[in-house]
Formats: sequence, structure tokens, C-alpha cells
Amino acid sequence: MKKQLLALCIASTISMPALADQSVEVLHWWTAGSEAAALNVLKTNLEKQGITWNDMPVAGGSGEAAMTTVRTRVISGNPPTAVQMQGFDITNWANEGVLADINDIATAGNWDTVVPTAIQAFSKHDGKWVAAPVNVHSTNWVWANKAVMDKAGITEVPETWDDFIKAAEKVQAAGFIALAHGGQPWQDATLFDGVALSTGGVEYYRKAFVELDQDTLKSATTEEVFKRMAQLRQLVDKDFSGRDWNVASGMVINEQAAFQIMGDWAKGEFISAGKVPNQDFLCFRLPGTQGAITYNADQFVMFKVGDEFVDAQKKFAAAVMDPSFQIAFNKVKGSVPARTDISDSEFDDCAKKAMKDLVEANTNNTLLGSIAHAHAVPPSIKNAFFDVITRHFNGQIDDKTAVEEMAMAAQ
Ligand code: GAL
Repeated sequence: MKKQLLALCIASTISMPALADQSVEVLHWWTAGSEAAALNVLKTNLEKQGITWNDMPVAGGSGEAAMTTVRTRVISGNPPTAVQMQGFDITNWANEGVLADINDIATAGNWDTVVPTAIQAFSKHDGKWVAAPVNVHSTNWVWANKAVMDKAGITEVPETWDDFIKAAEKVQAAGFIALAHGGQPWQDATLFDGVALSTGGVEYYRKAFVELDQDTLKSATTEEVFKRMAQLRQLVDKDFSGRDWNVASGMVINEQAAFQIMGDWAKGEFISAGKVPNQDFLCFRLPGTQGAITYNADQFVMFKVGDEFVDAQKKFAAAVMDPSFQIAFNKVKGSVPARTDISDSEFDDCAKKAMKDLVEANTNNTLLGSIAHAHAVPPSIKNAFFDVITRHFNGQIDDKTAVEEMAMAAQ
């Protein structure tokens, strides 16, 4: 009797399919107002499908703190179900063999055809999809308050670096802050993306910061890049240290400052404050970078957390790539869709420009991965670059030393 019961128990455990757990724990760093609102679109869509959303926000721009939390969770054997991730961080985790394969969802959704090739390079591992891209951002933008520009007597959008500096000086003379900035390493590095591209052009940027060519890194152009970074340092206010990026956006929105050099997540804050592009604020490429893009794309990876979660993870991945979701999300987030088959008709003027720029950059081979946002080099080198850029920005090392240290960091 006992034996029979035991056999029955074993048989039922073996044959019983794992009960699907219709919940997802989502780790992300979208804690600013516009970011949380954008993510809420995904949450609502999934909840309509009966998926429970367990939110795991880790505050900190560019996801540095979030990536530390992910590492701790994975090492302790308790990874989250779904994680916001980008660029080389995805590559690193894929190499560890801990990411779930979402290839069947990607095949069913035809992702191979609709996702820009540059992004696919990070979404796939060994030819299989391991990440669902949610957007494309770019970092070489200037966000400008129109009223402050008017008050400072700036009548035209600056086209060259020198024009930009002159305009910024006019802003200071008129009693406003020229550049709203937060002194955090990733924000300093976000300035560096644009300054490097503006100073050296596409081939210089690629050779120095993607291919890590020592001669190019040590060249006079890199010294010029740091010289320009020091010029920007003169344009920020005295309280810039440690300030969050969205607080800096708020300074432009509230007419305290004229410009912010930041990725287009900043636009999300302008839009959620009810500001209108080309009326209240302007968006233009950092002077000298027109025609090229330093991009980054947010994606969601699914960690291998057990068979019972696979169904919910697949629904999550499919929801991320749903065309109408990508429109709704990116309108709020400030980014543009990670699909090439979406019309720009519902988007604002800045997003229309971003979509056009992306197509052009893709065609002309001027699409460059952002150094600051993990799309140019692996995290270890990225962090070593951050260290040099920030110490230079804070005046701890001079231009020449910064050049030498960047070359060393690349090694
Ligand atoms: C970027 C990310 C954006 C935005 C920004 C500020 O790395 O791609 O979506 O969140 O950081 O945190």
C-alpha cells in the first residue's frame, strides 16, 4: 500500500507540468517621472494579460547601481525574472550562460527583419535572441530653453563648437546658468560622447573609443577633446556635483539654465512637464556632431529562473516588441522605437528628427555606440574611462595626463 502510494506520488510529480507562475519581477532603473510613466505602459499591458508585476526599481542614472544589484542577485542564486539592460552588459551576462533564450518569440515576431542591425548585435548571443529591445536613445543632443535663449539674445541654433561656447557665454552674461549638468561619472561621460564626436569626427571616435587604437587615443585630437571638456566645466553652476540628470533637466525646463547636453530621456521630462518642442524648448545635435549619432538601446533580458516562469517571460518579451506598445512607450520615454517598421506620425518634432537621423546614420555608417551607456566598450573599460573623464572634469588631472590615462584605461 505504502509502496503503491509512493509510486503514485513520484509518477504524479514527474508527469505534472510545472504550474505556470504568471508573475514577473522586473528590475530596472527607471525612477524619474517620465521613465516611470513610460514603464507603466508595459506594466498595464501585461496586467491586462493576467501577469502580476513585481517592481524592483534601483535608482541611479544609466543603471550603474542596477547592474551592481543584478550581480549580487545572480551570485546569490536569485536573479530577477526580467532585467532592463543595455549593450555590453547584455553580452557579458549572455557569456555567463544565465540568460534565457527567447528565440521562438523573436522568430514568431519577425524581429530579425524589424530590429536595426546594430542593436541586434547586442540582443543576440550565438545567433539566438536573448534580449528584447524597447527603444533607441542617442546622447549627442542639446536640450535648450527657448525663452532663456531669447533673453540672452541667441537668435540662431549654434552650428559649430565655437558658436556653442559663444552662445553659452552670452547666457552667462545674461545671468543664467549656461549648462545644466549633474556631476556624476556617467553624466560626465555622456558629455564626453558628444564632445569626442564633435572634436574628432566619426572615424576618430570609432578608432579611439570602439576599436581602442592606442595611437588614436594618444593623439592630439584626444587632448583637444579634454580641452573642450574643460571648457564645458566653466559653463556649469557651482552646485553641480552629484546632481541627478532629471534635476538638471528641471533647471532647463524652469528657465534657470539654457542648455543640457544629455540623451533624449531628458526630453521625456520636458514632455511630461507639458513643454512643447520648437516652442518652449529646442532639440539640436551637439554642434559638430550633425549627421552622426552616439546611440544606446534599452533592452530586457530574461534570466533563467525556472520552467514555471517561462510562459510569463515569453509574454513579457512579446509585449516589449509589440508595435503599438513601442509607440506608446517611446512617446513618453523620449526615445524612438527599436523597430524600423513604425511610422513617425504620432511622434513629436524631436522624435521625428531622431528617427530620421537614425535611418541616415545607419545608411551612412555614422551610427556609433555610446561610450557612456555601454555600447562602445565592455563595462570594465567603460568604468576605467569614467574614472579618467570625471577626475579630469573635476580638475584633478590636466588634459595631457587625461590623454595618457585614457590610453592606459583602454588596455
Ligand atoms: C540610460 C538609459 C535611459 C535612461 C538613462 C538615465 O542609460 O538608456 O533609458 O534611463 O540611462 O537613467
